[in-house]
Order: sequence, then C-alpha cells, then structure tokens
Amino acid sequence: MSIAYKQVHKQYPGVPAPAVDQVNLSVREGELIVFLGPSGCGKTTLLKMTNRLYEPTSGTIEIDGTDISTMQPEMLRRQIGYVIQQNGLFPHMRIEDNIAVVPRLLHWSEPSISSRIDELLEMVHLDPKSFRKRLPSQLSGGQQQRVGIARALAADPSILLMDEPFGAIDAITRLSLQDELLRIQRRTKKTILFVTHDVDEAFRLADRIVVMQSGKIVQFDTPYAIITNPANDFVKQLVGDRDIYRRMNLLKISDILNVKDMVKGAVVSTKPVVHLDECVKDVFTRLVETRSKELIVVNHMNCRVGTIDIETILDQMEQHGRDYAQS
Ligand SMILES: Nc1ncnc2c1ncn2[C@@H]1O[C@H](COP(=O)(O)OP(=O)(O)OP(=O)(O)O)[C@@H](O)[C@H]1O
Ligand SMILES: [Mg+2]
Repeated sequence: MSIAYKQVHKQYPGVPAPAVDQVNLSVREGELIVFLGPSGCGKTTLLKMTNRLYEPTSGTIEIDGTDISTMQPEMLRRQIGYVIQQNGLFPHMRIEDNIAVVPRLLHWSEPSISSRIDELLEMVHLDPKSFRKRLPSQLSGGQQQRVGIARALAADPSILLMDEPFGAIDAITRLSLQDELLRIQRRTKKTILFVTHDVDEAFRLADRIVVMQSGKIVQFDTPYAIITNPANDFVKQLVGDRDIYRRMNLLKISDILNVKDMVKGAVVSTKPVVHLDECVKDVFTRLVETRSKELIVVNHMNCRVGTIDIETILDQMEQHGRDYAQS
C-alpha cells in the first residue's frame, strides 16, 4: 500500500516547537523507507500518526488514497504491523499467545493460528518447540525483540512500522534479521517504514532514506544519492565521510562499465566470471583476494561483455566521486 503525508504537522500541548513540521512525503507500495535523524527530531511521532496512536494537529495522511482520519483506528491497525524497540510484548502472555493476538482478533481458526505461530517463530530463528510456551521474561532481550517482529507480521499486514527494532540486538543476529526483513519485503511487497540510528543499517536496508532534523525532512533520496550528494552539512555529518569502499557498495558493475562500447562475445561457461549486476565492492574484493589481474564480465545471458580490473574500478570510482562533487 502507498502512504502519503500531506502538510502533516504535530504540536504537543505546552511544547512550543512542533515535533513534526509540515511534512510532505510520498511512499510507494513495497518500498522500504528508512528514517534517520537525531534524537527528538520527530521520527517516532511520525510513525505513531501513521497508525493513529497520535493524531496530527493538522494535515492528512492517506493510505492508498484514503484519508486515515476517516477510518476506524482498529481497522487501520489491522493492516499495519508495529514493532518498537522495547518490543511491547504482553508480559503475562506466553510467546504463542502474544503472536496470536491479531489473528485471534480477526477470528482465524485455531489450527491456522497455531501453524502460523510455528512458521513465524522459525522465520525469526526461534525454535517453536522451545519457545512457544515461555513467558517474555524467560527470553533474552534480543529473543523478545524477534518475537515482537513475528507478532507484527502475524496477520500479514500490508504496512510495517518499525521503530528501532534491532537496537538491542547483537551485531550478528542483527545482520541476519536485516536479511530476513529484506527477504520478506521482496517476497511480499510490504511497505516498510523503519527508524534507526545506525547509518550502516540504513544504507543496507533502504530503498530510500528520509533524513529528518527538528521535525522537518531535510533530504529524501536513495542511499547512493544521499552519500554522494548530501543536501547540506547536517546530512554530510550525519552519514559521515563515506569513503570509496562505501560508494563501491552502492554501485553495480554495470554502473561503471560502459557496455555499449563493447563487442558482445561468446557464452562463457567455465571461468569464474563477474555479472553486470554484481556489487562493485564484492568484485573489487574478489580481484584483490584472488590476485587476479582481471575478471571476465558477462551479461544476464552469460555472454562476455568485457573485463574488469582493479585500476578500472579505482579510476571509475574517482570519476564518479568527481561527477557528484561537481553536480
Ligand atoms: N507525548 C509527548 N508530549 C510532549 N512532547 C512529546 C511527546 N512525545 C514526543 N515529544 C517531543 O516531540 C519531539 C519529537 O519526539 P519523537 O519521539 O518523535 O522523536 P524521535 O525522533 O523518535 O527521537 P528518538 O530518536 O530519541 O526516539 C521531541 O522533542 C519530544 O520531546
Ligand atoms: Mg523515537
């Protein structure tokens, strides 16, 4: 589902500065949007207005073109999964009952609820046999967090709001949950709004990133554009001095190799080859690690379109850096 914020404004009573300041934002169906910005810039307020835990002071939010203020909050929330950092599990309910909350509200049959619980626990790498009957207090913080994600996904909502969902999770589990989230999103076309303070996480997950400051959107663009063309010094500082390797992460071989000029060759079947849609950084690493002088580049038909070597990559990255510095 698409989400559109139109002149959305939120002023808390007794607080002079608006928490969200005339925000306009259009999110397409199936996009994963990451919100980045300092503490207090309005990220949580914006998410909570999206499922009507808070109401805007003025402005409208539309989901697939419908103004959400005209919808029943309960109906709205059935389409929207919500994950918060402090997972929000009900402490007196077993894990299985926590996950079953929304499916029960929707009157699913008990057998289908039960198999959904197993499926979701497996998805977040918790063994159902071991975890179903426990209480939240009998789980580690990271495990509770994973149950929170499973619960948000239970009734297959079209939209997921995730407010620093992986904040309390160790680096390794965090990477695997990020992969899981990307997989879910690609498979199910869910629209995901994801808040994080972790710039690397933002760049790993986002289709587009919203950078916020003092309730306003200062930049809304792809990770690559934000790194290479930050809107102002604040954004530059926030995303840090992203070095050449970081930029390599965001480019494919096809972005730096001019295929048009190349003679198409025969199908390559034996040698290790590079595909045009591979990430530049992976190919660079492979060239360095295998000490290869060059690697053959093939297109999606496995036909040779050229070769790539370390020098070409470094030259191209420098060229790209200059192009963006000038634009
Ligand atoms: N219920 C409330 N009443 C009054 N002011 C609030 C309330 N909730 C948030 N605020 C204020 O609104 C502003 C935005 O808060 P919000 O929680 O949206 O920020 P955030 O970007 O999520 O920050 P963080 O990264 O720390 O979670 C802050 O200045 C905060 O103090
Ligand atoms: Mg917050």
